[in-house]
Amino acid sequence: MAKTTFKGSIMLNPVPAVLITSRNLEGKDNVFTVGWVGTACTKPPMVTVAIRPERLSHEYIKEGNSFVVNLASTNLVKAVDYCGVRGGRTTDKFKDMNLTLSEAEQINCGVINECPVAFECVVKSITPLGSHDLFLAEVVKCHVDEELIDEKGKIHFDKADLLAYSHGEYFGINPTPLGSFGYSVRKKPISKKSADFLEVSALNNKINTNSTTRDKKSNTSKNTSKRTSKSANDKNNNSKKNLTSSKSTKANKSKSKKRTRI
Ligand SMILES: Cc1cc2nc3c(=O)[nH]c(=O)nc-3n(C[C@H](O)[C@H](O)[C@H](O)COP(=O)(O)O)c2cc1C
Repeated sequence: MAKTTFKGSIMLNPVPAVLITSRNLEGKDNVFTVGWVGTACTKPPMVTVAIRPERLSHEYIKEGNSFVVNLASTNLVKAVDYCGVRGGRTTDKFKDMNLTLSEAEQINCGVINECPVAFECVVKSITPLGSHDLFLAEVVKCHVDEELIDEKGKIHFDKADLLAYSHGEYFGINPTPLGSFGYSVRKKPISKKSADFLEVSALNNKINTNSTTRDKKSNTSKNTSKRTSKSANDKNNNSKKNLTSSKSTKANKSKSKKRTRI
């Protein structure tokens, strides 16, 4: 594939577009939009956020030494954009975008009720990089909308309809998975549809072979009339149909008990 080269720039796409809430020492809350957020470590759970020093949020997060990352669904796209183009010094972004807060559990900060997932973070270090300062923070508490959790406790992020940001535009995520972790090396259980198809094809092949043998035999008999042969064919066809459906029903039953792996 032919490629054009550019000078070094930020090409990581897509990224999540999240809302980060913070609280200063006077107890004032602020919210701003962040695209430069990333996972840094799983044990302990750590994230990074790159923030320009001129942001009000930079000041609040430094003062409070903590923040909350609120994941946004596509229905919050307007709020996400607004909180990313309006500064908290001159605007009450919560009021303008009808965003409401609950108290965080582990830190002194607000959690946005309208967001399906949020996590509380404690700042561990701040590294000046140039245009942005890199905040490395430990995740100390996670909040997940109960509607996303099934009876086994599994979180279904696909149902959260999360927002992505790519090259200046907002997108939803196609909820149909293209694969799951490790699927490229995993032996897949055969799908019911393919299993049925294979079963029926194999059976039809068998029936065709049998009927060809029978046809050959009957062709050698001179006394066989056209009418008799037609009714024999009809019977044969009927028996094909019957066999096919009864076998495939049997196959379905046995498959429902035990799935074949290939
Ligand atoms: C999609 C999007 C992503 C953004 N990502 C970042 C970011 O990662 N870091 C940053 O400092 N500003 C980012 N911004 C800009 C701030 O959100 C914006 O300047 C905001 O008004 C700052 O608000 P504040 O001054 O109240 O903190 C982003 C803006 C948008 C729209």
